[in-house]
Amino acid sequence: MQTHEIRQRFIKHFTNLGHAEVPSASLILNDPNLLFVNAGMVPFKPYFLGQQNPPYDTATSIQKCVRTLDIEEVGITTRHNTFFQMAGNFSFGDYFKEGAIRNAWALLTNSVEDGGFGFDPELLWVTVFQDDDEAAEIWEKEIGVPKERIQRLGMADNYWSMGVPGPCGPCSEIYYDRGPEHGAEGGPIADDNRYLEIWNLVFMGYERGEGIGKDNFEILGQLPKKNIDTGMGVERVACLLQGVENVYETDLLRPVIEEAEKLTGATYGKTQQDDVRFRVIADHCRTGLMLILDGVTPGNEGRGYILRRLLRRIIRSARLLGATGETMADLMETVRQTMTPSYPEIEQNWERIRSVAVGEEKAFLKTLESGSQLFENFAEQAKAAGSNEVSGEVAFALHDTHGFPIDLTMEMAAESGLTVDSAGFHSHMAEQKARAKADNQAKKLGHTDETVYRPFVDNHPTLFTGFENLEDEGTVLGLVVDGVLVERAGEGDQVQVILDRTPFYAEAGGQMADRGEMSNGSFAGAVEDVQKVGKKVWLHAVRITGGEIAVGQKVNSQVSRAWRHQARQAHSGTHLIHAALRQVLGPTAVQAGSLNKPGYLRFDFNFGEQLSESQLRDIEQIANGAVDTDYEVHTIETTLEEAKKMGAMALFGENYGSQVRVVEIGGPFSMELCGGIHVEHSSQVGPIAILGESSVGSGTRRIEAYTGMDSLNFLSREKNLVSGLATSLKAPSEEIPDRIDALTAKLKAAEKQVQQLRNQQLLSRVGELVSAAEHIGDITVVAQELPAGVGVGDLRTIALDAKARLGSEPAVVLFASNDEGKVPFVATLTDAAIELGLKAGDLVKEFGAKVGGRGGGKPQLAQGSGSEPAGIIAGLEAVNSAITAAVQG
Ligand code: SER
Repeated sequence: MQTHEIRQRFIKHFTNLGHAEVPSASLILNDPNLLFVNAGMVPFKPYFLGQQNPPYDTATSIQKCVRTLDIEEVGITTRHNTFFQMAGNFSFGDYFKEGAIRNAWALLTNSVEDGGFGFDPELLWVTVFQDDDEAAEIWEKEIGVPKERIQRLGMADNYWSMGVPGPCGPCSEIYYDRGPEHGAEGGPIADDNRYLEIWNLVFMGYERGEGIGKDNFEILGQLPKKNIDTGMGVERVACLLQGVENVYETDLLRPVIEEAEKLTGATYGKTQQDDVRFRVIADHCRTGLMLILDGVTPGNEGRGYILRRLLRRIIRSARLLGATGETMADLMETVRQTMTPSYPEIEQNWERIRSVAVGEEKAFLKTLESGSQLFENFAEQAKAAGSNEVSGEVAFALHDTHGFPIDLTMEMAAESGLTVDSAGFHSHMAEQKARAKADNQAKKLGHTDETVYRPFVDNHPTLFTGFENLEDEGTVLGLVVDGVLVERAGEGDQVQVILDRTPFYAEAGGQMADRGEMSNGSFAGAVEDVQKVGKKVWLHAVRITGGEIAVGQKVNSQVSRAWRHQARQAHSGTHLIHAALRQVLGPTAVQAGSLNKPGYLRFDFNFGEQLSESQLRDIEQIANGAVDTDYEVHTIETTLEEAKKMGAMALFGENYGSQVRVVEIGGPFSMELCGGIHVEHSSQVGPIAILGESSVGSGTRRIEAYTGMDSLNFLSREKNLVSGLATSLKAPSEEIPDRIDALTAKLKAAEKQVQQLRNQQLLSRVGELVSAAEHIGDITVVAQELPAGVGVGDLRTIALDAKARLGSEPAVVLFASNDEGKVPFVATLTDAAIELGLKAGDLVKEFGAKVGGRGGGKPQLAQGSGSEPAGIIAGLEAVNSAITAAVQG
């Protein structure tokens, strides 16, 4: 049975049972605790926690998931995919254990003709949580699974949580016995390779707190309802129903392995080592494609880093299998073909996906070379120092700056007869990870424990009145200082104020929160930030400037008029820039983030190359044209489906509810899903002045612009700058470019003249340099540091002149100079010196090693460059020693 059909049967089974079909959410949902969606339940988290009311009681989905914790296991075991599809059914306070068990069993064991998967019930085993007699009894009494095929396991195996704070509960897992050729008898407890887990039923009734791992955390309490979350591994079921050995050989991944065979010339199924590489390629290509589809671009941290690591493992594996050229485009093309039937959106995004993946391959193939060179240097140095170990620091540097996965460094080290200090490497990595984690946790709310807000999220969502008003009166429902609920707060306190209604816009969708004031007869305060918790409750960060605020008081909220006006201008300006950008660059330029604050906007988008001046000018013109046209701005509340039909643009990573808000400027000109605040007419945005365009990590570009009065101020500053230049150059402004060109040309000519004079001067000293020669045995040695700033070309001219003066005697000339921190060096030898066994190439190597560089060339003439001027003296000494050794030898 093909994977696509397995998916369809799953959904049909549960929609027939009345479940709402929910499409997969993006892999990059905005959850500060998770890099990627790693289970089918993640998009439903607010429903389980009771933060939001679900629009249905039961639901089913096939969720895209990425788990990279087990990346090293990929290809080695038979069942680890970094990307997989989790088919799930969910109940929010509707059916519980019995329903979940019955529904799953029916789908697995119903015959294929009846819409099931047709698994032989005799080959299915189940596990339950150690204390869960209820589940064990349902399996035995209601379903008829014999007692000996029901096993009990502890917290680490049969108690499910996301690994981070969130919903959790005991679970029951269903396994399929693949037969004695796959391992030992005795059920899942004995062998989890032979008994393959296919479905996990979680009885989601509790909430977990902070803690480590799968079994060491606190249970904070019960969830408001008893829920069901199940997850069936689509890939694993496909592996069983297609009768293949492992999840890499199913209909979706096998073609990638075949393509890799063609590209590398190696054959699958010959050696275990090569097979692992083939499977890594197949698995990682698919994960890479799906991540890029959802808007991830390769980078050096977070999600981008994971994508980069995956893509680099593909490239390296292909090379180890024998590929010499680029392979990414062909491999990705195969994934495109196998995945498009289930994910048609791949087609619309194909050009972008391809260019990101191929761009990363090109970049890595470059650093692969420079990194390999660096590695060789270190290896040589380590050997010269009598060590056979590459230090942890070096391995980390290779990893960090050249993108070398540690196992690549280890393989290369082994080839050179070296080992790697992997403990040292891992401690550098751990430090880096700890830094990244600390960054992640520095969340906007100021502290991470959100339980203090729970009563408000559950019972008192804030009413936002700011679309219509800038001012409103509300009641203080809660006050939080340093994460603790308080009854009152006084002058100087930083307090989070929760009201029943507010006109303050909370930061969302790139628009910064409103600023303003709050007061009543007994206190006054400045609102310095506003954030949302649980999407429902507005937290106003207020600095009390006088008096005392207390729970229950009425307060007057006043949004700063100027702030709001300029923030709206910036936000609508962003939509105009976005629309203009897509007109100029086409649909592959996809939004990757934005920031709108009063008078300024920043817009990030995925695009493979730098924008030209003329593209930027076109974007600015089109956006300002829309301002000039004075379009009306409308907001429309509608369903997500309807909005998509209208052609509204949605953002990656955003989890939209079923009801959405569309902001439309000029009909088809701009239409976006957006919850932000906008002007009423496009002319109110005022002039938009693009400041510039830059790169923010590979594949992502950023446009920055001013709006409204800030544009005018910017333009007038630029104008003053031009007037200033005109005065200094004593020329009208339109002649400035020509004047500067003329001045630059003059300067260049002058520099050339100075150089010539210096060379003449140096050449006139050659005689002096030659007469200061030393003699080592029969060899005349002129090895000197010349004055600072002589480039390699001039060094060569002077060295050759010196050699000519030394005629036919055995002579060595070596010159070096400190050229602004670089150390160029040149050596040249007379034929008589070469006859004595000396070579210029050897001498520059000796010298280069002391100045942190390399060099090479012919016996007569060689040159190189280093980066450590402090080593010049030691370099000259090393050259003398080498000559002495040669003479004596
Ligand atoms: N959340 C559970 C899992 O990921 C079941 O869906 O295994």
